[in-house]
Amino acid sequence: MKLNQNIPSPLSEAEISDIEAEISHLPDRKSAAIDALKIVQSYRGWISDASLGAIANLLQMSNEELDGIATFYNLIYRRPVGEKVILLCDSVTCWIMDGDKICQKIKSHLNVEQGETTADNKFTLLPVTCLGDCDHAPVMMVGDELHHDLTTTRVEEIFR
Ligand code: FES
Repeated sequence: MKLNQNIPSPLSEAEISDIEAEISHLPDRKSAAIDALKIVQSYRGWISDASLGAIANLLQMSNEELDGIATFYNLIYRRPVGEKVILLCDSVTCWIMDGDKICQKIKSHLNVEQGETTADNKFTLLPVTCLGDCDHAPVMMVGDELHHDLTTTRVEEIFR
């Protein structure tokens, strides 16, 4: 598949430059797929269909192929998200350690359901598999910050 120069790219020069920098130390353009998705998401917050098409074109792969990767990789958001994403671990250790109670508390405190964004667009609540901090379950990420040993009181403090 060749780069289609006739398609106007919605990607910025900075995004293209960052992606090309990744490609430069990889064996082929397609190998940069996840990095390219992450780069564009870091600029835009999520990956729209237009962004996905432009990245696929840049990487010389089909939209379907790239969408498959984006869908498989659950930290790539294909819908708009809030300013911060809450990744709440729903794997077994967190579940055993009252993860469901924490989930209910977050939902009632922020008035959202899983997969939804708060009315003020500040937070999107998403389930995620093990965050690798099982010794301190239950665990969640809020943006870049890891919060562990969660209690309902701690949830109130975090989202005060
Ligand atoms: S099971 Fe939740 S962090 Fe591992």
